[in-house]
Amino acid sequence: MKPIEISKDIYCLAAVDWNIRDFHGYSTYEGTTYNVYLILDDKITLIDTVKKQFADELIDGISQIIDPKKIDYVISNHTEMDHSGGLPRVMHKVGEDKPLYCSQMGQKNLSKHYLQKWNYQPVKNRGELSLGKRTLTFLETRMLHWPDSMFSYLKEEKILFSSDAFGQHYAGLERFDDEIDDAIMPHARKYFANILLLYSPLILKLVDSVTEMGLELDMLCPDHGIIWRKDPGKIITSYVEWSQQKPKRKALVIYDTMWHSTEKMAGAMVEALGEEGVDAKPMHLRSCHRSDIITEVLDAGAIIIGSPTFNNGLFPTVSDFLTYMKGLKPKDKVGAAFGSYGWSGEAVKLINDQLNEMKFNVIDPGLKVQFVPDEEGVEACRKLGKKIAQALPSE
Ligand code: FEO
Repeated sequence: MKPIEISKDIYCLAAVDWNIRDFHGYSTYEGTTYNVYLILDDKITLIDTVKKQFADELIDGISQIIDPKKIDYVISNHTEMDHSGGLPRVMHKVGEDKPLYCSQMGQKNLSKHYLQKWNYQPVKNRGELSLGKRTLTFLETRMLHWPDSMFSYLKEEKILFSSDAFGQHYAGLERFDDEIDDAIMPHARKYFANILLLYSPLILKLVDSVTEMGLELDMLCPDHGIIWRKDPGKIITSYVEWSQQKPKRKALVIYDTMWHSTEKMAGAMVEALGEEGVDAKPMHLRSCHRSDIITEVLDAGAIIIGSPTFNNGLFPTVSDFLTYMKGLKPKDKVGAAFGSYGWSGEAVKLINDQLNEMKFNVIDPGLKVQFVPDEEGVEACRKLGKKIAQALPSE
């Protein structure tokens, strides 16, 4: 691990996880990083740690700057184990009695993860900690995305250590936004869609309250991916836009198929939607990863789900996707269901039930075709596609 001085006497120590491809169900085709920050002041302060398997790498990185024993304060902005797994090793090296600052929920959650009697110093929202020449202000960000989550703000340098927020699952040699420019945005967008989408209302409130506080930002330092120093406002503006979830004239036809009948129905619907000027895309659930589909869901106005009836129920990949999407609570979507069946045909009703639970605007009872769609079946799919197009905003 090579420490990088991001500002005078402030270092980023990034453990680069080049090979991770599945981050608890999220596809990370380009790996990720676990970023830790070290501030050298009268009180030497470490912010967050790394996943357990990178703990020795972190100790080595710190040792290139100072003896870890010289660290006075450890801060945990978030308990999830990709940032706290290295904490037992770090506390052992730094000194088990050193103050460990975290939110009140952080103390509860860390205690339940590591069963250690560390010297917890729970902090309050907007509480301050003097490091000597600099001061850290703690900002609780409950449920963004865990109850323990908080930000730490270094006011003299105008640096916000934002934990998971504004991060990206991206492993590369770049450490700053100006080194990668817009190529980082698809990673930031996917991260938002899969991790933060359900907290959109809280994000809008947080941005309002940070604006109200007049918090100035020269640098935004998340715990994953690159640091925003050229234009921290850009990712904040994007978060506001993504949180608003304004539906576009865009439709996703998300489906699985056994013998290509449901696929044929999906194709007819996509074709009809395209003829109506809708940006329509078929997404086969065994060809597209659920986390990539959710990234597309973010600004889609219509979500159309297709499943064959399989053992009186849904095809398993369709159930998986609906469960995933329901948890992320996308809003303001037009919804519809379709699918081929052999004899019982429950799938369309089961999809409709879930779309209604998600408060989608289900504009049609749904379309079932027995076995293989004939000309009439294909025409019914085209008609449904046109009906969905009519329900979408014009652009
Ligand atoms: Fe990167 Fe919520 O952990």
